[in-house]
Amino acid sequence: MRQPLVAGNWKMYKTVAEARQLVSELVPGLQAIGGVEKVLCPPFTDLMAVAALLEGSGIGLGAQNLHWEAQGAFTGEISPAMVAEVCKYVIIGHSERRQYFAETDTTVNRKVKAALAQGLTPIVCVGETLAEYEAGRTAEVVSRQIKLGLADLEISEASAGSLVVAYEPVWAIGTGKAATSAGANAVMTDVIRPGLTELFGAAVAQSVRILYGGSVKPDNAKEYFNQSDIDGALVGGASLKAGDFIAITKAAAH
Ligand code: 13P
Repeated sequence: MRQPLVAGNWKMYKTVAEARQLVSELVPGLQAIGGVEKVLCPPFTDLMAVAALLEGSGIGLGAQNLHWEAQGAFTGEISPAMVAEVCKYVIIGHSERRQYFAETDTTVNRKVKAALAQGLTPIVCVGETLAEYEAGRTAEVVSRQIKLGLADLEISEASAGSLVVAYEPVWAIGTGKAATSAGANAVMTDVIRPGLTELFGAAVAQSVRILYGGSVKPDNAKEYFNQSDIDGALVGGASLKAGDFIAITKAAAH
């Protein structure tokens, strides 16, 4: 059984003061929900303050990126050990990083390896662009992202819970144009799990959680969570509103 996971990707929103306010609104509501793994992924500058507020809450903390090198002259970057000091999770290869910061399947793969070596749980994002979707290339693109992004990893059945994949069609992110729940589920069933099976075997592929991301809101969340291969959500905009994120998390707890 895969435990549902709901993660909030705050992107580049919330100063420390704003983060404290949001977390104070989130904690009581999220704590009351059982059976769901909950994760908040604020900007780097908020992590220490949010970590202090989450202590003992059972709510996990994640970063939105890391560098693959252990240390060095990499101005502006954050190492895996620095992230692991404060976080248990890290988002890797978000489409915004691929699109605006030139991340590739190769750099995603380096980051995933570095994160796992540091004991972090990577949330690895895949998904096709609008042009790729319209050209009918979804399966080709997503299976390449899985194959290359997750190449040469050692994942056992015991450690499969520490690898999370998020399927986020780029055309559904921040657009209000969510993928249909059946359409998203089909990508997971027909493309992502078979890709994971090829890499790690069927048992691991059945244990890795796959999240859907892209315009998840309180009023559509349940539809996604009712699908056989959707194990949770990576929530952007709606994770910035306490009531919405709590409602989405509740919908995952069925
Ligand atoms: P929205 O929920 O704002 O569409 O963002 C999705 C996303 O990119 C989460 O990583």
